[in-house]
Amino acid sequence: MTKPRILVTRAVFPDVVERLKQYFDVEANPEDAIYTKAELIAKLQDKDGVYTTPSTGMSEDVIQACPRLKAICNMAVGFNNIDVAAATRAGIMVTNTPDVLNETTADFAWALLLSTARRVTESEHYLRAGQWQKWRYDTLLGMDIHGATLGILGMGRIGQAIARRSMGFDMRVIYHNRSRLDEQREARANNARYVGKEELLRTADHLILALPYSPEVHHTIGAAELAMMKPSATLINIARGGIVDDAALIVALKANRLAAAGLDVFENEPAFDPGFLDLSNVVLTPHIASASEPTRRAMADCAAANLIAALTGATPPNILNPEVTSKV
Ligand code: 8YV
Repeated sequence: MTKPRILVTRAVFPDVVERLKQYFDVEANPEDAIYTKAELIAKLQDKDGVYTTPSTGMSEDVIQACPRLKAICNMAVGFNNIDVAAATRAGIMVTNTPDVLNETTADFAWALLLSTARRVTESEHYLRAGQWQKWRYDTLLGMDIHGATLGILGMGRIGQAIARRSMGFDMRVIYHNRSRLDEQREARANNARYVGKEELLRTADHLILALPYSPEVHHTIGAAELAMMKPSATLINIARGGIVDDAALIVALKANRLAAAGLDVFENEPAFDPGFLDLSNVVLTPHIASASEPTRRAMADCAAANLIAALTGATPPNILNPEVTSKV
């Protein structure tokens, strides 16, 4: 019997590719080439499944141009690179990798928050540049984390994991979300209090963004929202580029309208607005919130398990469009 054919669009752990080869005829990409849309479509003409990452755009036109495709399995919890509605219309299963990265991503949100509020990377640059000539009472003063009010926009699994970690810092937690959590979840999230978006922006000493991207939340933090925040506040984005209007953020940071920002994600990444590089009150990291060895492995395994299920007649554990019945 011929095996289903799949494309793995980006480099991934070699043992995961080997596992996929037990089930599929695999076209992998160990050299990690970035395909153009035309190349992607050409490669998918004879494929039954595709193993993607958020850098692979599975837009409606790509989906429509690949009639053989039955499954798109993303190695990420976020899936804004995939037009799920178009996939559903085409009868294609779509999966993501939820849960396995919650704790690692929450850890990193804290790494960014601490670095940003306490000016860790800026301090290191200062030291490395030989600027540390004497102690001064006001050198590199930051803002406290302990006892502060932590605001979280987007209180899903990652937002809740971030909130739980705030207990050790004696923080008050306020959050805004599409819907309010039940009492038990709020209690576990350090007694997080549900507030409106404006109250969140005006009250938070530190604001962490942990919401999924969709066109509805594009630039949900723009000039108007930044103007509502305390000038002493910090803003942390571990969610997705596009949620923040980066140009507006640069203006606010430059004018010290906002104390500092910690950003792991950017509009148009891996390109980003070079205006950030001129600012000392911003901590910049290259989309690494989930990048611990065990978690990236868990994500890779989860995406592989979804693809294997999808193309062997089972229901993938993390199907996003369960209404699609398998075409296998
Ligand atoms: C990944 C992410 O780094 O899961 C997501 O949605 O943004 C990150 O965990 C990235 O997407 C790798 O595939």
